[in-house]
Amino acid sequence: MNIQALLSEKVSQAMIAAGAPADCEPQVRQSAKPQFGDYQANGIMAIAKKLGQAPRQFAEQVLSHLDLKGIAGKTEIAGPGFINIFLEPAFLAEQAELALSHDKLNISPVATQRIVVDYSAPNVAKEMHVGHLRSTIIGDASVRTLEFLGHDVVRANHIGDWGTQFGMLIAFLEKKQQEQDTEIALADLEAFYREAKQLYDQDEAFAERARGYVVKLQGGDEYCAQMWKKLVDITMAQNQHNYDRLNVSLTRDNVMGESLYNPMLPGIVADLEAKGLAVESEGAVVVFLDEYKNKEGEPMGVIIRKKDGGYLYTTTDIACAKYRYETLKADRVLYYIDSRQHQHLMQAWTIVRKAGYVPENIPLEHHMFGMMLGKDGRPFKTRAGGTIKLADLLDEAHDRALTLVRSKNPEMGEDELQNLAEVIGIGAVKYADLSKNRTTDYIFDWDNMLAFEGNTAPYLLYAYTRVLSVFRKAGADVQTVEGDILLTETREAALATRLLQFEETLLQVAREGTPHVMCSYLYDLAGLFSGFYEHCPILAAADEKTRQSRLKLASLTAKTLKCGLETLGIRTVDRM
Ligand code: ARG
Repeated sequence: MNIQALLSEKVSQAMIAAGAPADCEPQVRQSAKPQFGDYQANGIMAIAKKLGQAPRQFAEQVLSHLDLKGIAGKTEIAGPGFINIFLEPAFLAEQAELALSHDKLNISPVATQRIVVDYSAPNVAKEMHVGHLRSTIIGDASVRTLEFLGHDVVRANHIGDWGTQFGMLIAFLEKKQQEQDTEIALADLEAFYREAKQLYDQDEAFAERARGYVVKLQGGDEYCAQMWKKLVDITMAQNQHNYDRLNVSLTRDNVMGESLYNPMLPGIVADLEAKGLAVESEGAVVVFLDEYKNKEGEPMGVIIRKKDGGYLYTTTDIACAKYRYETLKADRVLYYIDSRQHQHLMQAWTIVRKAGYVPENIPLEHHMFGMMLGKDGRPFKTRAGGTIKLADLLDEAHDRALTLVRSKNPEMGEDELQNLAEVIGIGAVKYADLSKNRTTDYIFDWDNMLAFEGNTAPYLLYAYTRVLSVFRKAGADVQTVEGDILLTETREAALATRLLQFEETLLQVAREGTPHVMCSYLYDLAGLFSGFYEHCPILAAADEKTRQSRLKLASLTAKTLKCGLETLGIRTVDRM
């Protein structure tokens, strides 16, 4: 159920009946304070002004046409001309019943779009580090939300699997194979890459061979292609381990790396030249963009082919956007990449639009994010100043959570403790990231994220288990509660209203790609439930009807919390 959409429709009909134009915006929003009702229509003043009428008078006209029978018990005009809407408990009860009986909480069908989501994108022969964490988990939450709504989502893992470094990596892999040391050498990709680079810088014969392999690889040489594939396979197998632990829905099938676009690049450059967009400049091929100025105030030149014939990251992203529209048939494309790559993307897309590769009505959206910082406010690094490997971070999360749950549950068995530690530890890392507005940097702080108080994973997971424990105590099944929902207490109605705003929350996350909105919603919901639980006795309710009704509200709360956490990619446990 989308109450906001329903009320918008009703208010806009009333506005039109009162003389407003057909495209008027009722601006119906959730009210910020209970005294303003559950929803507010804020669009009256702007339209009254256009019509040359006194806003409050126009508001009265609108109210006289507004038919909210069976939906709202009370409406009133407030301030300069807002309309406050107070929902009817019977309407809320009826909608809550519907939400409870549908497996997807009775969310409305959407006009399905094919949406390509570019996320994670680690680099081959490198281990995933914390820098890839944000893209991976925010992107995956976005994907899950879009799929939950019914969209057709294409996961695109734009891995860095192409470039001149592959000559060096192939030559080094060959050397290790000759020394029969492949397995060991590739177990630690960071060391593998570092040693390859060292050899390349020091050993001229090796460097020579490496350069030869680059040319061969680009020319489609079978041996080089096979060695290259080995590097990709090993890297992605290691990454898959991280994805699985993180409960991230990416698989090997979602890899669409830079190499995929490589064969398209000569055609792109030729086409941009033919269209007069690209020109030769000092041996390179360059697109000059009026939209971007260099230090001298002249149009900035974006190189798409280097003097030596090599292509660039930008050229690949031009081909990639074109492919996503033309071949993948995307209606919308989202990119989860850190904010430092914003200018790069804007340049690539400006060229894409000018060349007509992707029409203006197909949105290309950069859903950027800030950095993960340490407690000192500087980029998050190891003590020695190195990048933190993702796998190490996840191990630490598990260990810290294990210490915590062990101390809280001294009598719990080892298997359950281990499982709990994994769910809470990984959940805490993910939630800490997801709950912050992605556009800003955030401070990575173990103590905060593992706290059982505040907007954290442990708090929400615990809140969920608390709801389930009500059912255990009642000897009832959370899935099948008999009876009707009756909303007599203010707290019951407030909880029901918030439960019914799940769809509005999902839609906002889907539109803006901001999972923190879902986190805030769930946190708020957990708080409302806790207030309800304290003041409206469930098991000790005055009568059977009230008890069943409250159990139903508890059941819908559990279901909504679980669904919400699932859209975030956070696992739940039944007790902790
Ligand atoms: N591999 C890149 C990196 O590690 C991110 C790629 C993002 N996607 C893209 N279409 N450029 O920085």
